[in-house]
Amino acid sequence: MKGRLIVWEGVEGSGKTTQVAAIAEWLQSTQSQEVVTTREPGGTALGKHLRNLLLKEEIHTIHDKTELCLYAADRIQHLEEVIKPALAQGKIVLCDRFTASSIAYQCYGRGLDYSLVEQFNQIATNGLGPDLTIWLKLDVRIGLQRVKLRGESDRFEKAALEFHQRVHQGYQDIALRQPQTFITIEANQPQALVTQAIQQALSKHFQEFDET
Ligand SMILES: Nc1ncnc2c1ncn2[C@@H]1O[C@H](COP(=O)(O)OP(=O)(O)OP(=O)(O)O)[C@@H](O)[C@H]1O
Ligand SMILES: [Mg+2]
Repeated sequence: MKGRLIVWEGVEGSGKTTQVAAIAEWLQSTQSQEVVTTREPGGTALGKHLRNLLLKEEIHTIHDKTELCLYAADRIQHLEEVIKPALAQGKIVLCDRFTASSIAYQCYGRGLDYSLVEQFNQIATNGLGPDLTIWLKLDVRIGLQRVKLRGESDRFEKAALEFHQRVHQGYQDIALRQPQTFITIEANQPQALVTQAIQQALSKHFQEFDET
């Protein structure tokens, strides 16, 4: 059976981690394929160090282009070590953030050139893209509020509201450009209803996957 890469995107606190866990459980009980959950940055041993450098460390400054490179480095390692082998074994990979995050954060958020970010995405993935991306669409203020309640915040969560609004706009633009594969899920509803909406979208796409 063909492996599938399903990516999860959304601003801080939009519910990615929560929904990946819920959907992994659901897929495990309804699909014959093995399910792997992973995330960027930090899906590998090297990636965990990169994640700390990118999100936790506050002793250094990171130039926007350096940030772009570090995310690409994390992605290359992640693809080689985790994603590609899992797909080759016919597994369903649920990946918390992927290339769209680089567009939304580094291009729209930081203001780096779109073609530069796309080039780095291309170098990292060599054209391997998600079969489907689930975008958990949420007002950034609600997401940041949820994160605040969760406790300690990282380097991005501390960024200005305007930064997050630009990131949100990035996701909105991608969703408009790729309505078939970048699926918008209204995330401002109770967790169980968000899960249901994702299940519906995935059921439809799994049917289409089976026909390809
Ligand atoms: N639908 C929901 N309604 C209310 N609270 C929620 C909902 N989904 C998740 N939460 C809560 O909001 C917080 C953020 O959720 P979660 O960690 O899943 O988001 P995330 O997108 O993974 O965030 P991050 O970008 O920081 O990784 C958590 O405390 C979670 O329990
Ligand atoms: Mg998360």
